[in-house]
Amino acid sequence: MTDSPISPENPKNTKKLLVTGGAGYVGGVVAAHLLAAGHRVTVLDDLSTGVREGVPEGAEFVEARVQDAAKVLDSSYDAVLHFAASSQVAESVAAPEKYWRNNVAGTMELLAAMREAAVRTLVFSSTAAVYGEPVTVPITESAATAPTNPYGASKLAVDHMITGECAAHGLAAVSLRYFNVAGAFGRHGERHDPESHLIPLVLQVAQGRRSEVAIFGDDYPTPDGTCVRDYIHVADLAEAHLLALDAAGSGEHLVCNLGNGSGFSVREVIDTVREVTGHPIPAAVRPRRAGDPAVLVASAEQARTRLGWQPRRTDLAEIVRDAWMFTQSLGEGDA
Ligand SMILES: NC(=O)c1ccc[n+]([C@@H]2O[C@H](COP(=O)([O-])OP(=O)(O)OC[C@H]3O[C@@H](n4cnc5c(N)ncnc54)[C@H](O)[C@@H]3O)[C@@H](O)[C@H]2O)c1
Repeated sequence: MTDSPISPENPKNTKKLLVTGGAGYVGGVVAAHLLAAGHRVTVLDDLSTGVREGVPEGAEFVEARVQDAAKVLDSSYDAVLHFAASSQVAESVAAPEKYWRNNVAGTMELLAAMREAAVRTLVFSSTAAVYGEPVTVPITESAATAPTNPYGASKLAVDHMITGECAAHGLAAVSLRYFNVAGAFGRHGERHDPESHLIPLVLQVAQGRRSEVAIFGDDYPTPDGTCVRDYIHVADLAEAHLLALDAAGSGEHLVCNLGNGSGFSVREVIDTVREVTGHPIPAAVRPRRAGDPAVLVASAEQARTRLGWQPRRTDLAEIVRDAWMFTQSLGEGDA
């Protein structure tokens, strides 16, 4: 690992960092937090789903694929934060080859470039999707991994690849398994195309861009019969990445779930959007979707003990308010 000791030349122990996927939702918010902490940031992104305006001011931007990271990385970098990936579950079922190529082969090339440049610290965006249907909740990192779609399988394959890289080549790595990332940070918010995440979908109804929201199943064994998910504010998530930069030792692959530790049901989300936006939000109950577990909630105990991380924006109304402000800031053509 290239160390950046606290010294007269580097009084704040700032680092030079490569952020892949930093023009996207999560990567953009994390890059903004890294810059605010005084780090130097290069964003590498092919703009396949991200946007140029998503790259925060102050970051150097290189429009390139993660597969070409070797053209950018050299030994002056201290670490890589790797967000670049394809992440649509339905697309991964329809075109799994895209997920193996972009997520798995892409990360293999990135790890090779890091080895070549002697950059020995990695923070990787993993996902709750690696667990599949949980046997017990809250879900800990030792839960069985049985992804139910190629997206989750591709992320799990990368996690295994990183474990081997740490053991064989002394990489220090942290995989952060996000649950449902939500909310916004300034001008950085969610805009997936097609949108499949619940909060932005419900906000599209409030904006008049969708006539109603579908509730897939209201007969689950949960307090109101609808599915319960763990929503984590994107700014809380960003703080975990800063802590993760120093969390693993050489040869260690640390895995941490990131969630609030408490869940909200689909109906609670819809009710909160009604309160925040003042819109009635018509909702229609539809049949359950295959493979939708009743409850997905993280145990964030490992992140607390190993990273010293504590989510601070756990109020659903705050998460929805921030997302709503971002949604309203988008022009028609941006959405
Ligand atoms: N948003 C969530 O709820 C969530 C949950 C769990 C995990 N994740 C993971 O977090 C990461 C970021 O997700 P997001 O929601 O910000 O998605 P996003 O689509 O907004 O961001 C991904 C970024 O990576 C870029 N990219 C994709 N493939 C690339 C490649 N081969 N080379 C260079 N750039 C490439 C895209 O242009 C985009 O800017 C992903 O790895 C995703 O799997 C997200």
